[in-house]
Amino acid sequence: MTTKKVILITGSGSGIGAAIARELAAPGTCLQLHARGNDAASRQSMQATYDFLSSKGATANIHYADLNDAGSGHALVKQTVDTFGQLDQVVSNAGHASKKSLHEASRQELLAAVENMAGALLEIAQAARPHLQHSPHASIVLTSSFVAHRFRPTELYPLTAAAKAAAEALAMSLAAELAPLGINVNSVVPGYTLKDPNRHAASDWQERLTPPPLGRFGSPEDIAGAVAFLLSEKARYITGQKLAVDGGLCLG
Ligand SMILES: NC(=O)c1ccc[n+]([C@@H]2O[C@H](COP(=O)([O-])OP(=O)(O)OC[C@H]3O[C@@H](n4cnc5c(N)ncnc54)[C@H](OP(=O)(O)O)[C@@H]3O)[C@@H](O)[C@H]2O)c1
Repeated sequence: MTTKKVILITGSGSGIGAAIARELAAPGTCLQLHARGNDAASRQSMQATYDFLSSKGATANIHYADLNDAGSGHALVKQTVDTFGQLDQVVSNAGHASKKSLHEASRQELLAAVENMAGALLEIAQAARPHLQHSPHASIVLTSSFVAHRFRPTELYPLTAAAKAAAEALAMSLAAELAPLGINVNSVVPGYTLKDPNRHAASDWQERLTPPPLGRFGSPEDIAGAVAFLLSEKARYITGQKLAVDGGLCLG
C-alpha cells in the first residue's frame, strides 16, 4: 500500500521547482504547486507541469501568490492543508536573481530581496511547523544559490547574494530549532543552471561564461535529484547542511 505524502514546492511552475515536482511525482504523492502567475507564460508552464504530474499518477493542486506579500506564505500552507489534509515536506524554491550593482541598488530593493527569499521561508516554516511535526517524513529544503558563495567582480549578484545568505542562515537556525520535533532542514546551493525555455527567452550566458570544472552547466534535473535525496528516507540523519550542486563552480 502506498503511503500518502504531501509536499509543498514554491516556485514550481517552471525550471528547478518544476523539475523537483516531476522528480517526486508518484502515485500517493500529493504535490502543492505554486508560482506568482502574473503572466500567461507562467500559467502555461504551470499547466504543463500539472498535466505531467497527473500523467505520473501524482495528485497536484495549484496556488498562485506573490511571496513578497505578507501573509501569502501562511495562505499557501493553509491552502495545502485544506486541500490534502496534511503537510509532510516543504521545498522553499521560489526566487530570482538580480545583477543590479551595489552602486545602483537601493536600500528598499535590498529589503525586497530579503523579504522575497528569507521572509517567505520564515513565514512558510512558521505556518508549516504544526503540520510537519506530526509527519515521520518531516523535512524542509531551501533552494539557495552559488551567488551567496562566489564573488567574481564580473559575475556579482549583490542583492540576491545577501538575500540567499540570509535565507541559508535562517535555514540553519530552523534546523537547530526544529530538530527536536523531528523536522530536518537543509539547503541545496545550485550553480549556474539552465533556464526553462518554456518560461524564459533564450539568453547567451552559456556562451559568455566558462563552464564549471565538471564541464557543463547544471540542468534543473541535476538540482531536483539532490532535493529528492534530501527529502528521502536515506537523508533522515542529515540536517543543517548546505549541499552545493554546481559542477564544482565554487571550488576555486
Ligand atoms: N537558474 C539558475 O542558474 C539558478 C542558480 C542558483 C539558484 N537558483 C535558484 O533556483 C530557484 C528557481 O529558479 P529557476 O532558475 O528555476 O527560475 P524560474 O524558472 O524563473 O522559477 C522561479 C519560480 O519562482 C517563482 N517566483 C519568483 N519570484 C516570486 C515571488 N515573488 N512570489 C512567488 N513566486 C515567485 C516564479 O513564479 P512566476 O514564474 O510565476 O514568476 C517561478 O515559479 C530560485 O530560488 C533561484 O534563485 C537558480
